[in-house]
Amino acid sequence: MAQKILFDTDPGIDDAMALLFALASPEIEVIGVTTVFGNVHTDLATHNALALLEFAGRPDIPVAQGATRPLHITFDEPATLVHAANGLGEVFLPKPTASPDPRPAAQFIAEAVMRLPGEIILAPVGPLTNIALALMLEPRIVERVAGVVLMGGAATVNGNVNPAAEANIWHDPHAADIVFNAGWPVTMLGLDVTMTVQMDDAYFAGLRSSPTGEFIYAISRFYLEFHRQVYGLDVCHTHDPSVIAYLIDPTLYTVEYGPIRVVTEGIATGLTLWDRRGKWRRPNAWTDRPAVGVCLGVDAPRMLALFRERIIGRHRSEQSDDF
Ligand code: BDR
Ligand code: CA
Repeated sequence: MAQKILFDTDPGIDDAMALLFALASPEIEVIGVTTVFGNVHTDLATHNALALLEFAGRPDIPVAQGATRPLHITFDEPATLVHAANGLGEVFLPKPTASPDPRPAAQFIAEAVMRLPGEIILAPVGPLTNIALALMLEPRIVERVAGVVLMGGAATVNGNVNPAAEANIWHDPHAADIVFNAGWPVTMLGLDVTMTVQMDDAYFAGLRSSPTGEFIYAISRFYLEFHRQVYGLDVCHTHDPSVIAYLIDPTLYTVEYGPIRVVTEGIATGLTLWDRRGKWRRPNAWTDRPAVGVCLGVDAPRMLALFRERIIGRHRSEQSDDF
């Protein structure tokens, strides 16, 4: 039976890639999409989520709009340099015809998890604000969720906003600390594994034989240019699709366990500080905290092959081919 997920997202070029990857994969059933600020403001994230679902031929999947700002700090700014002002690399999908679910994302998440105990994995690929708000609204979701598999953080490498912080955690460090320490099973796909999976121009060109692949090729132009200009790389990092790859085939990744605390103030704000050692002379802020599954290694060629196989169409759901 397919794994039910709630996809929490700020689309976002790699968010779009991840959503289309999930929709093309029979192992996964996307039962709802919730939106959050981050790469774009939340209303644009909602617009993009609706447009992507219609493009993929899945307007039946509900979209619930979420938080417009972090729990305790101010929203820095949308990542227009990375994803363009429209969030999708200046590629414009038709205006969506569906409307969002009337419930706020946190309520949508809490109600879905309570309705289907043990069945839903939360799959956030943006700032963790909606997930933290859902926990505050309905703490019993900790026992009822099947797990949380998230893109964010950096356990053993530098961040990508600054040396300390990865972007999703940077946007709402307080929410991230809540989510990592709630006591539910969390798996973290951080920069440790998302930056080592690299897509280059030839890889994107090889996706163009399906409408989904043609769309991904189109949005990748802006993303590649960002990686070229800022990092001097001829490849894109594969952040958000990593969550979907893990859900389809966890054997792609090696995982180690230990508690994570998030730094919420000072120069290292947004740092995901992982206790990899576990044994200390004195109790500390990590003592008795839940162990997070931290992905440290990935079989990149196999992950890239899986993504390509799904995008070029073997398991593709119905979709339109104009955008
Ligand atoms: C994360 O930040 C966003 O720019 C991407 O969509 C991804 O979720 C990578 O740090
Ligand atoms: Ca994202």
